[in-house]
Amino acid sequence: MSLANRSLVTVDDLSNEEVEAVFSLADEMSEAMDKQSNVCQGKVMATLFAEPSTRTRLSFEAAMHRLGGSVISVAEAKTSSLAKGESLADMARVVGSYADIIVIRHPWEGAAKVVADYAGVPVINGGDGGHQHPTQTLCDLYTIKKERQTIKGLKIALWGDLKYGRTIHSLIFALAKFGANILFCPSPGLEVPEHVLEKLVTEYGGEVEKYEAQDQKAKDRLFPLDAIYTTPDSPHQLAMMPDVNLEVELKTGIDALYVTRPQKERFAATEEGQELKGKFPVVDKKLLKGKPFRKTLVMHPLPRVDELAYELDADPRSMYFKQAARGVPVRMALVALLLGTKEVPISREGDSLVQQVDYPIYKRDFGVRCPNPRCVSIQESEIRYLKPEFKIVNRKPLTLRCIYCEHGFEPKYIASSDWHEGRLVNKKYHSVDSHWARQIKPENLIVFNSESEAEARGFKPSRYARARS
Ligand code: CP
Repeated sequence: MSLANRSLVTVDDLSNEEVEAVFSLADEMSEAMDKQSNVCQGKVMATLFAEPSTRTRLSFEAAMHRLGGSVISVAEAKTSSLAKGESLADMARVVGSYADIIVIRHPWEGAAKVVADYAGVPVINGGDGGHQHPTQTLCDLYTIKKERQTIKGLKIALWGDLKYGRTIHSLIFALAKFGANILFCPSPGLEVPEHVLEKLVTEYGGEVEKYEAQDQKAKDRLFPLDAIYTTPDSPHQLAMMPDVNLEVELKTGIDALYVTRPQKERFAATEEGQELKGKFPVVDKKLLKGKPFRKTLVMHPLPRVDELAYELDADPRSMYFKQAARGVPVRMALVALLLGTKEVPISREGDSLVQQVDYPIYKRDFGVRCPNPRCVSIQESEIRYLKPEFKIVNRKPLTLRCIYCEHGFEPKYIASSDWHEGRLVNKKYHSVDSHWARQIKPENLIVFNSESEAEARGFKPSRYARARS
């Protein structure tokens, strides 16, 4: 099995065995860091960054230089033709004819998928809005493995902005794939989005249990725990403690505490307006003084602001600068493998816990569009050529998941192309919670999110068109 010519858009794009192959090559790269390599001599990397970055862009560029290749770079969207309204697809086609591999960071969720679909060369997602940041996750997993030799069965607490943190979303799925247990400790109002939890349960197995503290006092005294995810190997843990008592969880110790900064640049207007002081608990020596944290790895993708105290920098448990430094050998390994200039044996026998689900696809060039305002598929420059496309992840209630940004939502109205096509007088739409939701076959399904959307296509309300409240 080879990774040559593949792209890395989400953590789902690599199997556990492929991740292990990247890590074994990263070990090799790490040992030879002081020697100039020619593994990628003659190859060109394009780094296209439409959002600020220190670690991701510079570690990819350092990686390519160390591999003997060269780099062309756009460090700000305003210096590229994206600022003139050029579409991502056009840019991808053009840059794909200049470079052998592309690293893209963009604020639109799903942007890296679009670039990968059109570039014709391997594309690496360096962060697409609040969606995913898979190479940060490789650095995180590599660090955990280096320090603890395994990921399976570890107890990893995720702290801070779990709503908009793209490193968090990638890490959740990767930890689940490798069989870790996850404690969710969000800042108030920044809990893990429902669509991430839904995918975690349906495709990664295991269980997510919401934590209901006995009383607020107990909750304050402990840890701001919102929920616990246990892997399919150990859901019996939850059965043994119906109230998901964090004190029980803490007794056995936390293996890693992964802290994230509030992603203020992605906050909605209401969140921006909130008084933030005091709502982002700080990780400091005081918090980590208890027994459960004696061996806890303190991790952070960086950059940090106020959520992680500088007093921890000299603490042997602190891993964040190691995570950043390991970004170079990890990215050297990934680039060499995707370019096919290096190969390592990849076992086919795996113990991945992911269940591949072949969901029916919903794709029409009219009707419902992704409701996520940050989704690439609804942006003015992209709407001209991108058709809305969704996975039908549930029939009751009907739930669609956008193939670009992976947000899930429950639309309001449905119709059928089978019975109404060509017979305008019969073009009726129905409420999604009427019996029609079960009767219309996926291939005939037409979905609308509003009455006006349905009526603009010539559909009239049936007597089952009462909108859900
Ligand atoms: N961790 C991370 O993505 O850092 P940058 O934003 O500096 O690239």
